[in-house]
Amino acid sequence: RIAGPCGIVIFGVTGDLARKKLIPAIYDLANRGLLPPGFALTGFGRRDWSHQDFAHYAREAVKQFARTPFKQAVWDELVDGIRFVQGTFNDTDAFMRLNDTVKELDEQRGTGGNHAFYLSVPPSAFPLVCRQLAECGLSQSEEDAWRRVVIEKPFGHDLESAQELNNVVSEVFPAEDVFRIDHYLGKETVQNILALRFANQMYEPIWNSHYVDHVQITMAEDIGIGSRAGYYDGIGAARDVIQNHLLQLLALTAMEEPASFSARDLIAEKIKVLAATRVPDDIDAHTARGQYTAGWQGGEKVNGFFEEDGIPADSVTETFAAIRVDIDNRRWAGVPFYLRAGKRLGRRVTEIAIVFKKAPHLPFESTATTKLGENALVIRVQPDEGVTMRIGAKVPGTQMEIRDVTMDFGYGHAFTQSSPEAYERLILDVLLGEPPLFPRHEEVELSWRILDPITAHWAQHGSPAPYRAGTWGPDTADEMLKRDGRAWRRP
Ligand code: BG6
Repeated sequence: RIAGPCGIVIFGVTGDLARKKLIPAIYDLANRGLLPPGFALTGFGRRDWSHQDFAHYAREAVKQFARTPFKQAVWDELVDGIRFVQGTFNDTDAFMRLNDTVKELDEQRGTGGNHAFYLSVPPSAFPLVCRQLAECGLSQSEEDAWRRVVIEKPFGHDLESAQELNNVVSEVFPAEDVFRIDHYLGKETVQNILALRFANQMYEPIWNSHYVDHVQITMAEDIGIGSRAGYYDGIGAARDVIQNHLLQLLALTAMEEPASFSARDLIAEKIKVLAATRVPDDIDAHTARGQYTAGWQGGEKVNGFFEEDGIPADSVTETFAAIRVDIDNRRWAGVPFYLRAGKRLGRRVTEIAIVFKKAPHLPFESTATTKLGENALVIRVQPDEGVTMRIGAKVPGTQMEIRDVTMDFGYGHAFTQSSPEAYERLILDVLLGEPPLFPRHEEVELSWRILDPITAHWAQHGSPAPYRAGTWGPDTADEMLKRDGRAWRRP
């Protein structure tokens, strides 16, 4: 579907996210013909830029980061609707100028009063920007048009701050006009969890505690924190990605079938699962955290966390976190969900592994050398998108020897069309007013409720254990699973 007449205003337009993801995604949408004619892109920032300066900056970002090839004609159409408004967030005059710009765009480009405000800024700036949007008449349209706000994580630091943040935003924008971005929900393979579970008959009957031994959700990154110390220090892996991306993956994996894929029905099911999810009482035994030290990755020597720019020598921020959670409902009672995320791990991979119980009985001759393991269904979120099924098969030969083999479905093999970037899908959904892929504040709050006991405990007890860059995290993570008689997968 093509969005109707509209424009987008990006706050924090000179930041990394806007340059690497948002502006390129807007171009890709234009290139795929999914933006309305007359679409407008306005940047709001401190720099002393003209419209042309911003257009030049945007063009460079597109050339470097867009997924689709650069086409002059597409760019020419887009560039006509590019504007820049110079100002700081506490400068009311700048917001008045923004209001004038928006009105001009309605006249010149036919944006029809429909505008999305993308807050690609630290959450500490949300209250001020929201207030200015309200005071300068931008948060509501005079005519029968829409105004929407898009906010990026982190949605708070804990439950309390998330609630405060939500109160501020909801004073200005009604809930249906607030779009919280969790870019994992924009990924094809994440949406495929629902297709896999609910478009097939063969998985649901075994998708429960009778057959599933445990679930492992891994988000491993090979990159370090790079130049993001300012953001990352004090946040850490658990708040950065477990609170949002990994708990969303858990919710989609564990929830019941929704009545429909409407936002209301989908979110209702996710909320039920998150509400039933809790961390075990003994937090030390069921969590692990680490900090990377210098090591080798892809043949290159890389810095440790404490050698990265801007990391204080006494930082206790974790760059690796592993937690166990349990879901107290009929389907999942007794099935642990292990979640882990880390920087500078063995390789970049995000996957959900449903590990099944072993067959209760192996009807083979006692002489057979059975190496039969557990069946597993692995949803490969990235980078090699697809699904793997691990099964036992007979090794060719005169003996009944069984070994684990895999059956693979790969997106790259099965489909010719490439997946859109997560941000493309999500920005388009904002412009279309399609809310299913955006977490509601109830989900955000429930996720903090799950995580808060862990981060509070960590703040009081001990510090992260070291792990060498390029490995799979600290020993304490292995010990954590060993205590439960299990082991992490090595993807
Ligand atoms: C972001 C985190 O949400 O996700 C980053 O803040 C992380 O720390 C990034 O690197 C990873 O995203 P992706 O899409 O590359 O897995």
